[in-house]
Amino acid sequence: EEIKVFCPATIANVSCGFDVLGLALDAVGDEMTVRKTAKKGIAITKIMGQDLPLETAKNVSGVAGMALLEKSGYQGGFEIEIDKKIKPGSGIGSSAASSAGAVWAMNELLGKPFSNLELVKFAMQGEKLASDVAHADNVAPAIYGGFTLVRSYDPLDVISIPTPSELFATVIHPQIEIKTSDSRKILKTNITLEKGIQQWGNVGGLIAGLFKNDYDLIGRSLEDHIVEPIRSILIPGFDHVKSSAMGVGALGCGISGSGPSIFALSKGENVAQRVAESMKEVYGTIGIPFDIHISKIN
Ligand code: HSE
Repeated sequence: EEIKVFCPATIANVSCGFDVLGLALDAVGDEMTVRKTAKKGIAITKIMGQDLPLETAKNVSGVAGMALLEKSGYQGGFEIEIDKKIKPGSGIGSSAASSAGAVWAMNELLGKPFSNLELVKFAMQGEKLASDVAHADNVAPAIYGGFTLVRSYDPLDVISIPTPSELFATVIHPQIEIKTSDSRKILKTNITLEKGIQQWGNVGGLIAGLFKNDYDLIGRSLEDHIVEPIRSILIPGFDHVKSSAMGVGALGCGISGSGPSIFALSKGENVAQRVAESMKEVYGTIGIPFDIHISKIN
């Protein structure tokens, strides 16, 4: 018995929501085949597209999968094959796609004993291996689909947020690698009350805008005065890409997860396409190879 799953790339943080907001992309993702086996444990039999460890304890899908397996009481095991289309260190949830895909597929094969919330908890173990911190803002949208809010980590509370029908994301991925663990180390661990006020105002505004189909409010809320000023220094051309995207009508633009990918949200596919062209133009002059894609947010 086997299942083949699409494991979506995700944008975490979405500007104002560091570690709490995330959304799933439909244009990029890994493909994973998971098979039930009589042999106990998890065997990663093949990884295509990237050079990643096959050893279960060193592979995020192995670690996330073991967390599920131990809780399940299932006496057999699983084999996993991964066609890795998302590059590690790209900022669009490469490790999350593998972690989430593995547990999602296993749950299906076992007859769905676990809820989405439980699957997020298992997948977070994979994130812990990848970035030292069990953040859920990539695995939650990868499992629930669409836009999600991690309202609380302890106890874990994940909320699906509806999105307006014409919301599109343009994502440019410069071909440099930034490790999430490195780009977390440079962050300050304290913020001022003033910055807190700005940030939770924007989080509330963004969520309200998504519920009300209010694109202007969504745009006004896509700000981050805490993390973006620090991390954007690691991304060549960030300010230029952002001003160009805003200049052609993006609602907002920011760092995808821990970078280097940069995302912009737009109303309508035409604007998202114009944003892609403007990003291409900027990156063409920087001289770093990149890829770019557009997703509808569901
Ligand atoms: N919230 C995490 C971070 C996401 O920004 O470090 C990493 O993809």
